[in-house]
Amino acid sequence: ITTYLLIAAFAYLLGSIPFGLLLTRAAGLGDIRAIGSGNIGATNVLRTGNKALAATTLLLDGLKGTLAVVWVHAYGQHGVFVAGLFAFLGHLFPVWLGFKGGKGVATGLGVFYGLCWPLGLACCAAWLLTAFTLRFSSLAALVAYAAAPIAAWYFASPKTALLALIIAALVYWKHSANISRLLAGTEPRIGQKKATA
Ligand code: G3P
Repeated sequence: ITTYLLIAAFAYLLGSIPFGLLLTRAAGLGDIRAIGSGNIGATNVLRTGNKALAATTLLLDGLKGTLAVVWVHAYGQHGVFVAGLFAFLGHLFPVWLGFKGGKGVATGLGVFYGLCWPLGLACCAAWLLTAFTLRFSSLAALVAYAAAPIAAWYFASPKTALLALIIAALVYWKHSANISRLLAGTEPRIGQKKATA
């Protein structure tokens, strides 16, 4: 049990690094939480107009999820699940930001890659397909995470599907404002600062 607690603490700390906030601040673009949706994720970093910074945020937020999982492989499936869940929770509820973190899209996908790469790939494909056709980052996330438990069942195991379901439920909960905007027709498309009338 001590081992699992240590794994959880380590993964949480890794997941809680707010790369979007750190990178935009380092680039002299101010506080990302005062821009666009106020989220610390790559979609909102893109609203600063800096594509490279958004891509780096996406990559690093994803990588921390993958790393957390891969580093504890020696501790078996339970260790890996604890690491994946806590890295994801670290991104959503970082102690450094008063527990107000991101929406978990990139970090969750990184965790999926670490757990079972075909699962990560399937969810990324669902995200990309939706994003390129409909141009809503949030909707792409909702589609990808709806597919996640099914893909996890298919490519990995029922236990992985359960973890994917928990992660997906949290992603949906974090997107409640986006869901309302999508339904109201006011959600901005990718790269847009505000929705056009
Ligand atoms: O990655 C989060 C994305 O799905 C929505 O981001 O900034 O539009 O709320 P945002």
